[in-house]
Amino acid sequence: MIDTTRRTFLKTTAATAAAATLLPGAYAAPDDTLRIGLVGCGGRGTAAAREALRADPKVKLVAMCDAFMDRLEDSLKNILSVKDVAAKVDVTPERKFDGFDGYQKLLEHVDVVLLCTPPGFRPLHLKAAIEAGKHVFCEKPVAVDVAGAKSVIETARLAKQKNLSICSGYCWRYYHPLRETVKCIHDNAIGDIAAMHITYLTGTLWHRGSDPRWTPMEYQMRNWYYFTWLSGDFIVEQHCHNFDKMNWVLQGKIPVAATAVGGRQQRRDPKFGHIYDHFAATLEFDGGLKVFSFCRQMDNCGKGDVNDHVIGTKGSAQLMEFAVRPTGSAERVFADPRAKSMYQVEHDELFAGIRSGKCINDGETAAHSTLMAILAREAAYTGRRLTWKELMASNQNLAPAKYDWNYPIETPRVPIPGTYKFV
Ligand SMILES: NC(=O)c1ccc[n+]([C@@H]2O[C@H](COP(=O)([O-])OP(=O)(O)OC[C@H]3O[C@@H](n4cnc5c(N)ncnc54)[C@H](O)[C@@H]3O)[C@@H](O)[C@H]2O)c1
Repeated sequence: MIDTTRRTFLKTTAATAAAATLLPGAYAAPDDTLRIGLVGCGGRGTAAAREALRADPKVKLVAMCDAFMDRLEDSLKNILSVKDVAAKVDVTPERKFDGFDGYQKLLEHVDVVLLCTPPGFRPLHLKAAIEAGKHVFCEKPVAVDVAGAKSVIETARLAKQKNLSICSGYCWRYYHPLRETVKCIHDNAIGDIAAMHITYLTGTLWHRGSDPRWTPMEYQMRNWYYFTWLSGDFIVEQHCHNFDKMNWVLQGKIPVAATAVGGRQQRRDPKFGHIYDHFAATLEFDGGLKVFSFCRQMDNCGKGDVNDHVIGTKGSAQLMEFAVRPTGSAERVFADPRAKSMYQVEHDELFAGIRSGKCINDGETAAHSTLMAILAREAAYTGRRLTWKELMASNQNLAPAKYDWNYPIETPRVPIPGTYKFV
């Protein structure tokens, strides 16, 4: 029987059932169906929808939104082709939304929203979702600029007041073997942390071509990876996972400053917008701790290297080997090939929190991890030591003046250190 005193759905007549909404701050009873909406129906969004549908027995995917209808249709086809989730899909034609404002319409139909667009839109979508009283799964990174990250921090505080969830896609925090590894470090197995070396050295990614029918805005949106206002550059878009693991190991310690170098050597074709293809940064912390970060996206450079080395006063650890190595005593390895996928655990815990009323809120931590990557990016772009204080004093906003397919957007110049200005 449903506990009517704490029941979360508005009692509605059949006629208003479609507009029923989960009341923020209350738990969702086990027999309440949670209606899910997906915003950003690309590779990650499609997978996140499947994971959300597997996370709880009483959930339905009822609405989808993408800037482009062709992307939405491909994603829906993909989700419907998967046997164990297909029965939980009820996306009718009137609940498919495209364009820049589709997310607003989608929010009218759902209790939980999965935000999986390029990160440039995340602060805007997250704010709208929390203001509308929705629980959120929010992919990483959570912003591309300082104004966006500050907005996420404010929204995370609002979510806390409303007891709404913000589960971030900084997925390593949801991987059990890494939780044990980091706990062992926090339990002082290798003493105080003196330094970290974090790496994201990989090959190049996709490019979605061009079409004479596309406006400049459509070209940039289709090839969002190569434009900083949409992706944050690859140090923010991809290497941010390592910055988040660093933030986790260092228990939220904020860097004092960063100094960095970077540029583009392979990625010279104008089709690749204006992002770099390599960065190296040093982050300084109070007490002399330093973190050295390397990231590269280039082809034919040998085997990739995505790692997080932790150097302590009494030993070391290698996060991607789930290994903690105290000096003078036996190594401890927490790797577990049977561990559940971190992508699934994110959704399991998100929905468990909604059901119990103990909502996850990763918002502020995710904003800080994102800001640390932005600090390193801006230090490289400018070619000078940039302090956290300067970063936080700025209101850097990279968004175009208008989200409009006919807006005459230009490609900014590739940032040249010594000339580029951080504002
Ligand atoms: N946690 C992880 O390990 C992981 C892995 C892959 C991607 N991601 C993150 O997921 C996000 C999406 O990446 P992806 O690989 O799925 O990219 P993608 O290009 O495959 O998908 C993004 C989709 O969002 C749509 N979109 C763009 N702007 C939109 C808007 N304003 N409203 C609605 N839809 C919009 C695009 O048309 C596209 O279909 C990125 O932030 C990325 O960093 C995280």
